[in-house]
Amino acid sequence: MSLFLFKSFLAIIFLLAGVIAVICMFALMGKTKRKISDTFLRRMHKGMGFVFTILLLVISYFCINHVAQVGDQLSGRAVMHSVLSLGLIIVLVIKITIVQFYKQFLRFVPTMGIIVFSLAFVVFSTSAGYYFLRTLCVKDTTGETVTLSEAKFEGKLEKGALLFNDKCSGCHFSDKEENKIGPGLKNILKKTKLPSTGKPANIKNIWKQLKNPFLSMPAFPSLSEQELADLQAYLESL
Ligand code: HEC
Repeated sequence: MSLFLFKSFLAIIFLLAGVIAVICMFALMGKTKRKISDTFLRRMHKGMGFVFTILLLVISYFCINHVAQVGDQLSGRAVMHSVLSLGLIIVLVIKITIVQFYKQFLRFVPTMGIIVFSLAFVVFSTSAGYYFLRTLCVKDTTGETVTLSEAKFEGKLEKGALLFNDKCSGCHFSDKEENKIGPGLKNILKKTKLPSTGKPANIKNIWKQLKNPFLSMPAFPSLSEQELADLQAYLESL
């Protein structure tokens, strides 16, 4: 199982724990008569809140590792995901602190709970939700957006190497085939198939991956034709 898939399953349990905690809170605070006892609802809310917090810590650990390795090469979606997650963690920490130590602010706690849950939902959607959507709904991402006139541009190996260091090396090894964040790109154009999508290993399919990536790789829409040709020269040399 890939790390992304594992994280996504953890994220589903995380979100479910959040849903149950919110339902218990609504049941406790709502005025309608209820069959379940207050003590049970309170325990359930606390228990689910605990599971939610622990899973948040575990998933954050994976994410911090990812950010440390990838650095500035994060996709726009990943940046949004990280900022929202930080907001979520801050509100959750304040909520727990109030419940434990500053009971005079207790009236703010339900609102904070709803904010935490809403943020959790958005944070989930921008990562695991996106991952599931792409794997389930997109069979082939051959967006025919790449119209390169190959003959016009001659790639320069050194420029390609610099580009690779700048934009790709955070996630891909160039000297081995093992995974970093994405697959190692050694021999990438000497094989028959590309490692993730299984498409024929040719430069057109790599360009497609750069313009419209398969899963969690960021897109590089701003690469010029000359830069793509330079990258090609470098990838061919691996
Ligand atoms: C933030 C991490 C990240 C960056 C930066 C990145 N990639 Fe990727 N790349 C991935 C991941 C993850 C995959 C696996 C498939 C996917 O998620 O799209 C991948 C897959 C690939 C593949 C295999 C595609 C296939 O069809 O099997 C190629 C080729 C590739 N990347 C080239 C590049 C190049 C060239 C750059 C730099 C311009 C780059 N990547 C930058 C993460 C990254």
